[in-house]
Amino acid sequence: MVQSVTLRRPDDFHLHLRDDAMLRTVLPYSVRQFGRAVVMPNLKPPVTTVAAARAYRERILQALPSGSTFEPLMTCYLCDGTDPAEISAGFEGHVFTAAKLYPAGATTHSEYGVTAIDKIAKVLDVMQKLGMPLLIHGESTDPGIDVFDKEAVFLDRTLKPLLEMFPALKVVLEHITTEQAANFVDADTSGRLAATITPQHLLFNRNAMFTGGLRPHYYCLPVLKREQDRTALRRVATSGSRSFFLGTDSAPHERGTKEAACGCAGIFSAPTALEAYLSVFDEEHALERFEAFASESGRLFYDLPPNEGTVTLTRERNDAPRSVALGDGKSIETFMGDGELSWRLVDHSST
Ligand code: NCD
Ligand code: ZN
Repeated sequence: MVQSVTLRRPDDFHLHLRDDAMLRTVLPYSVRQFGRAVVMPNLKPPVTTVAAARAYRERILQALPSGSTFEPLMTCYLCDGTDPAEISAGFEGHVFTAAKLYPAGATTHSEYGVTAIDKIAKVLDVMQKLGMPLLIHGESTDPGIDVFDKEAVFLDRTLKPLLEMFPALKVVLEHITTEQAANFVDADTSGRLAATITPQHLLFNRNAMFTGGLRPHYYCLPVLKREQDRTALRRVATSGSRSFFLGTDSAPHERGTKEAACGCAGIFSAPTALEAYLSVFDEEHALERFEAFASESGRLFYDLPPNEGTVTLTRERNDAPRSVALGDGKSIETFMGDGELSWRLVDHSST
């Protein structure tokens, strides 16, 4: 049995870092694992301008542990009124790496999102010309659609027409959760469509939210799906295909806001993400394809150079804490903390 895996330092292509004390608390966990991260712009208020993204990037850099070379890759939150000139200035000025499309009302802090694709047609046209990736939260916001069907309906009603309307636009369908999305992205041979996959959607199906009671720490959006969906995601993630890559969607929320009558969506996986992904590749007998998923396919899609250095994981009990303290008695529950995983990232300080 393989006891140790070393790979080029990976990147996280979908990460929520938040701001202020929360940012300072969660950032070191991602820095430990990843060389770069695509940082989501759904702050309150959202990051919609070059100036706001520059300032947010500065706050992230200030919060980095000393000596860290971690690089935050900033995104722009698209609104109905987004100015195409702002997008091109941000991309050409190396502030924006990508822009994020939240259908209005689809998820946490998406109320300023896009109400219809034609509202951002000029922006998408500019992005297509620039080669700037569009990152999509792919769920229908039609209140009549069953929550478990929102992604599949989005594919048919919104994504397919969008891809036809903008035939050269680079698109990442974020955090895919269904067999339909896995097959749709897999069938595209153009190279301009890709998808990120989270650890929770590879490891759990929707039963996890209801085992013995209601379990808010397994609630995220898009919500966990059926077993056949999880199986399809595992198949494409471990296939070696360049179209699927790592994006944790680590989305920290203070415990009290999740363990509530109307609990927030989001799973905090930053302390254990890489180990959780690796356990999937281990179970699927695909350890030799882990580096493609974690360190190569994403950066190739984004036209980024390979990271310097490596990370090593060993087969031993994972000692990440069950929760991370935020001060004032508050905390964030960790995804699969407290020994639930049997792979552990070896700290560079101890190598
Ligand atoms: C994210 C968050 O909390 O910001 N929540 C989540 O469940 N994934 C928003 C998002 O990515 O949809
Ligand atoms: Zn997210």
